[in-house]
Amino acid sequence: MDETVELEIRKLGAGGDGIADGPVFVPRTLPGERVRATRIGKDRARAVGIATKSPDRVEPPCPHFAQCGGCAVQHLADAPYVEWKTGLLTAALAARGLETKLAPMLRIATGTRRRAELAALRTQGGVSLGFHAEGSSELVDIDSCLVLSPKIVALLPALRAFLADFLRPAEAFDIHATAADNGIDLLLTGRSPDARKRASLADFAAANGIVRIAWRREPGEAPEILALHESPRIAFGTVEVIPPPGAFLQAARPAELAIASEIAASVGRAKRIVDLYAGLGTFSFPLTGRVHAVEGDAAASAAMQAGARAGFRAGRVTCETRDLERRPLLAEELDEYDAAIFDPPREGAREQAAHLAASSVPVVVAVSCNPASFARDARVLVDGGYTLSRVVPVDQFLWTGHLELVATFTKPKKPRGPRY
Ligand SMILES: C[S@@+](CC[C@H](N)C(=O)[O-])C[C@H]1O[C@@H](n2cnc3c(N)ncnc32)[C@H](O)[C@@H]1O
Repeated sequence: MDETVELEIRKLGAGGDGIADGPVFVPRTLPGERVRATRIGKDRARAVGIATKSPDRVEPPCPHFAQCGGCAVQHLADAPYVEWKTGLLTAALAARGLETKLAPMLRIATGTRRRAELAALRTQGGVSLGFHAEGSSELVDIDSCLVLSPKIVALLPALRAFLADFLRPAEAFDIHATAADNGIDLLLTGRSPDARKRASLADFAAANGIVRIAWRREPGEAPEILALHESPRIAFGTVEVIPPPGAFLQAARPAELAIASEIAASVGRAKRIVDLYAGLGTFSFPLTGRVHAVEGDAAASAAMQAGARAGFRAGRVTCETRDLERRPLLAEELDEYDAAIFDPPREGAREQAAHLAASSVPVVVAVSCNPASFARDARVLVDGGYTLSRVVPVDQFLWTGHLELVATFTKPKKPRGPRY
């Protein structure tokens, strides 16, 4: 039998685990608690009993919380939750010597997550469909989820039943589900289905409000469309875009709209705006100025370009496919603009930030899902003469250690040189 130890939880870590001396990470525990725990690794333990409960402990609202790894902190009361989450951002900024008062965290409603990375496994008893267990590859079968769009949750029983025939014994598939504006869009990742199974996808889609099903053998491979009832559509402002399978989207529409309105307020009446890491044009299309949108992924960029052509007169939004890590926009290119938006992937935009820092763009709005890489890039901008004037945390990834944010940097306009 596993040896049980008693641990005192000192603090809540960035991922939402309680941390005891060692450090030993103990999921689902809270600071101030004394817990009995079994070791499950050098620096990890699983709580099997709580000797002293924190007054901040609440009943988790989701019945799957004890097993499912999708959420980490449903057992924490709301006020300390907000304090912990905003504290992650304050700490990341402080680690780079940036002291900034944060705006109040924008709360994003439950049931609004419009994309889910589900996993499925054919078992002896049927099909497990859901998320991986906390800290493990084990799959937790779910029939409800508080964060996901009800449109995705409603599909789970039919999807599970369909997969019972579609998957071979012991076969696993990853399923990327997106609630597009006109129906569900699925991207399946796993072994190649045979002809009969491929054919069965069209009927399954038609019967369940699924607009498109794409498949690929493994991540990184170009997906093949196996069923197309209608092209999925996502509207950004007045422009509709057909996203490529598995394309990046802000996880929740209310978060996207809140960020877009922060951006609009910060860029104000800017006439020429550059949107770096523009994705499908999420933030470019709703703006009123002339926007140059730059995106590295060729499929996303083509989808954005098609949206721009259909939605606007020529020149209102221009699109460029460009790898901003290898070929960042240089300071002299950036100087043409009155405002810049940059929303890089999790690892941030070290190179691009250096060129922004050297530019004279008066307003830079950064969007980030990673406080640590954001703080690193923010330091570069501040060292280049920018003032970090506003930081808004956006709780797009409810009950997890992930945090979205939107921040505004300003730089006084350079006086024009004398004309000769
Ligand atoms: C966090 S997403 C933001 C997308 C968009 N702003 C939105 O909100 O939907 C980051 C985007 O950067 C793109 N990207 C990643 N690496 C890149 C690179 N080296 N150069 C240009 N774009 C890149 C991704 O394809 C993705 O669309």
